Amino acid sequence: MSKEQYNFTFELYDSSDDLTQQDSWLLSEARSVTQFAYAPYSNFNVGAAARLVNGEIVTGTNQENASYPAGLCAERVLLSAASSLYPGIAIETMAISYNNLQGKSDKPVSPCGICRQTLTEFQQRTQHPIRIILGGIEGPVQLIENAEHLLPFCFGSNDLT
Ligand code: THU
Repeated sequence: MSKEQYNFTFELYDSSDDLTQQDSWLLSEARSVTQFAYAPYSNFNVGAAARLVNGEIVTGTNQENASYPAGLCAERVLLSAASSLYPGIAIETMAISYNNLQGKSDKPVSPCGICRQTLTEFQQRTQHPIRIILGGIEGPVQLIENAEHLLPFCFGSNDLT
């Protein structure tokens, strides 16, 4: 028996002002598109914005439904849009923000488990790590260099072979 350890490092910034200009701009896009979320049930408007390796920008927002499980997270709306508009093109960076209409938006929130699974498959099939920027409308910002860091021991297509 051996004891193993999983760890990863991420960058923590006091505010989006401390990011590079490119990253700061992408996070401001994610913040801005929260206005296009359709979230009348949770009042939790999520926005995501990605820069593709070809320079294109793709955004996504959460889209809820009266049949609650039919709702989609912003990240997966974005990944589906990116795959459909620019098939096979990798994502370099995705910024994720949110506007909580019933509370604060002053700290990062992380993608849910299903979105983590979807992110890892997207980066595996495009063979490119996705950088993740997480921040509220204000406050500290986290920068994670690879989406797989958020999902240790992830299940992938290789496991089916
Ligand atoms: N949501 C996202 O869009 N992304 C996440 O990673 C977490 C949750 C959405 C789903 C739902 O519409 C609302 O936030 C509250 O859970």
